[in-house]
Amino acid sequence: MIDPERIRELAALSDNFRKACVLKGAFSDQFLSAGDITKIFRAVSADEGRLSCLRAYTETAQRPDLQQKLFREPPETEDLETWGRSRFGGARFGIVLDRPPLENDAFEARLSEVLTGIYDTAGNAFGAAEPHIFIGDYGYSPFGAHHDQEVGRILHFHLGPGVKQMYIWDEEDYVAATGGTMACFDPGAILDKATRYDIGPGDIMVLPTEGFHVGYTPDFSIGFALCLMDADDGDTLRRAADQALAHALEDMETGSEPKAACQSGNGLQVTVDISRALWIEAARAASNLSLVPPPPPREALPPENSKLARLGRFPVVYREREDEAVLAGRGHSLELPPARSLAGLADRLNADEELTLAEMAALLTADFSEDAAEYIAAQLWAWHAVVPV
Ligand SMILES: [Fe+2]
Repeated sequence: MIDPERIRELAALSDNFRKACVLKGAFSDQFLSAGDITKIFRAVSADEGRLSCLRAYTETAQRPDLQQKLFREPPETEDLETWGRSRFGGARFGIVLDRPPLENDAFEARLSEVLTGIYDTAGNAFGAAEPHIFIGDYGYSPFGAHHDQEVGRILHFHLGPGVKQMYIWDEEDYVAATGGTMACFDPGAILDKATRYDIGPGDIMVLPTEGFHVGYTPDFSIGFALCLMDADDGDTLRRAADQALAHALEDMETGSEPKAACQSGNGLQVTVDISRALWIEAARAASNLSLVPPPPPREALPPENSKLARLGRFPVVYREREDEAVLAGRGHSLELPPARSLAGLADRLNADEELTLAEMAALLTADFSEDAAEYIAAQLWAWHAVVPV
């Protein structure tokens, strides 16, 4: 588990997740383990439509042939190093999972708490959080030294066991060293101008929103990155669709020759924006925890006696800390005195039990006054943590 105090510390060190910094020893494998990563990998492979989530690399090249093979035969072991090594014939390798479904209730509940802390600390500035997973000992990032345009803020949770180096350049230094702002595929040649950060197991690194970076992973390790998008998903999709339409109309009206897809200036960015917006939509539909920001609270109550259940796979979180407890759902939370009935209610909802608000309140009267019990139950409804069955 990650102490909320450490999230606040990270926010302060990084100017709200904008500046480069490493928070040492921020989490243990009780928060995120190799076993969790194996489960996520298997969830990707369970859905044919997710093949494009997986990329495979050797030190020198992307390997689409191996992508298929890894997708069809996902790891059954938590020892991803041995597994990966055997799949790549003993060579150094890199596997990237982009925007995988998490489908791991226990980890999702822990991540939800962390994201709730991040949203609380930074205000509600993010459109969504995208997970990405990096596995292997592939040396420099296969995409070279680069700047992640339009991605927003990036938090890298390093599981290890190897130590990863992250090299960061100011834009000015990078342009001086490479002659431009394109990705540099020989980052080793320009390291003297970079600032180096070492990221060990349990560390969280914030990547800067400005400037350029490259990761160097000489020994086997696993990293879990969250990209916190600034733009609202609706705005992103609307803007991408508007731009695509405006270009198409302009071409029609001026009678200009249709351009090949790769030549149309922002075609790639439009594709990226649309695919991102669709991913956010899918995450929202799956109630993929706080990967999307908390929905605005509901004002009206549900029809009396209507049975309610948690939405999708989104857990109701109950956590005790010393003499306080937190009840959380869909990114909203309430601090309360610790109470067994709250833990019991969260367990029952997470087991997909269907209850009316009155039944939930009745359970809570074991520890709370009738008014307080009704208020707490109504909050779960207001947060969209429970929905009519
Ligand atoms: Fe990057």
